[in-house]
Parts: sequence; C-alpha cells; structure tokens
Amino acid sequence: MGRGPVDPTRRLQISTPKIAPSLLAADFSRLGEEVERIVAAGADLLHFDVMDGEFVPNFAISPPFIAAVREITDVPFDVHIMVTHPLRYIDALAAAGADFITFHIESADKPDEVISAIRAHGIKPGLALCPRTPVSAVTSYLSDVDLVLPMSVEPGFGGQSFQPGTLEKIATLHQIVQEMTQPLDISVDGGVTTEIAPLTIHRGATILVAGTAIFRSQQPETIIQKLRTPATYDESL
Ligand code: DX5
Ligand code: ZN
Repeated sequence: MGRGPVDPTRRLQISTPKIAPSLLAADFSRLGEEVERIVAAGADLLHFDVMDGEFVPNFAISPPFIAAVREITDVPFDVHIMVTHPLRYIDALAAAGADFITFHIESADKPDEVISAIRAHGIKPGLALCPRTPVSAVTSYLSDVDLVLPMSVEPGFGGQSFQPGTLEKIATLHQIVQEMTQPLDISVDGGVTTEIAPLTIHRGATILVAGTAIFRSQQPETIIQKLRTPATYDESL
C-alpha cells in the first residue's frame, strides 16, 4: 500500500485524531452495555450509520435508535447518512441528538439546501464522498461544512477492507484545508485498523471511524489508544 515517502514537514502539523467507534459493529442485543463499554474505553465521538435501503443496498440505524443511545450518553454523535434524500431526515436526526450530520455529495438533494437545513438546527454539517467520487466534486462546498469524509470502502456495510486510493484523497484534502481560514475535520471511515490508522493520520485525517476494529475487540480501550497514538509507522503496509 506504499505511496512513497511522506513529506517530513507535513508530519509537524499532525494532531491527535478523534476516535469515532461505529455502532454498526456493536452487538445490538446488548446495545446499552455496548455503548457504555465503548464510551468507557475512550470514544471521542459515536458514529451512527443511517441507511435507507436505496442509496445503499442495506438498511441500518434510524433516528429512534440514535435517540435511545442519546438517553445514556453525552458523547458527541457523528451521524453519517447514506440516504438518497437527506433533506427528509434532518429534523428527525436533529431531534434524536445528532451533533454532526454528514451526507453524501452523490445523494439527490441540493448540497446547499442540505447544509442550510443542518445548520438551522445548530448542528455541524459534513460532506461524504464515495470511493469512486473525486475530491473535485466537493471542493466548492468545503468552506461551508465542518467535516469532509472520503469513504475508504463502498458505503453500506462494515467489515470491508480499506481502499488504498483513499490515502491520496486525504492528502489532497489536507492541502486544501491548510489554505482555508476556518478549521475542517477530515474523517476516514471504512476498514480502519491499527495498521491503517497511521497512514491516514500522517496524511491529515483528524477523525478515525472504526467499527469492526473496536467493537469486535475484547480490549477496545487498547485499540482506541493505538488508533489515536500509533506506536509504529510503516509505509510499506
Ligand atoms: C460503512 C459505514 C462505516 C462502517 C465502518 O458504510 O459507513 O461506518 O460501520 O465499519 P468498519 O470499521 O468495520 O469498516
Ligand atoms: Zn459511516
């Protein structure tokens, strides 16, 4: 997966990323315990994958699920909506307790309208792009959002392998962010492991979403710590 040496000057600008466990990989039969286990392990955010069975070939988390988790934790909620018509769901997601709502540039609604609807609730908007979508598709909206999410797998399912082409997108986005006046989080989502994490952090990722790696571990606190502060850095992976 090597992409050549990373510019050492870029390393100086690296900051500790926030870790966002994805509830999609939780044991839903013990949801409350799972949330408490992962919050106690040090989650900075909780990531929710909302799927409508149309934008992606799968159904997943809905607003009542998010509202139920909101009853038991104050950790900020990072809600990733993989739906064809994001505008339809903003009010319900706001009521459920979202702190970030990230929608897809490939969805059918006008990005400006979705961003305004999210901001009207005092929530931070984010913009996601599928692996096939170039960074150029989102650049004109970056100054209007708080988060950009270049997906590192096809959206719809957990447990897939990280697509290496995402690394270049993260680096490109990082360069753009460096020239912006306001901060913008760069999130990475899909196939993130303790081996992959440093490659993304060293290119500028500031939020790491991980489902399988965290929830399927018996020691999630160790995984979260390793994701946040990788001990090793191996470009040859
Ligand atoms: C995929 C979702 C991801 C998924 C990540 O559509 O957006 O958030 O839960 O799961 P892992 O970490 O298992 O790839
Ligand atoms: Zn997600």
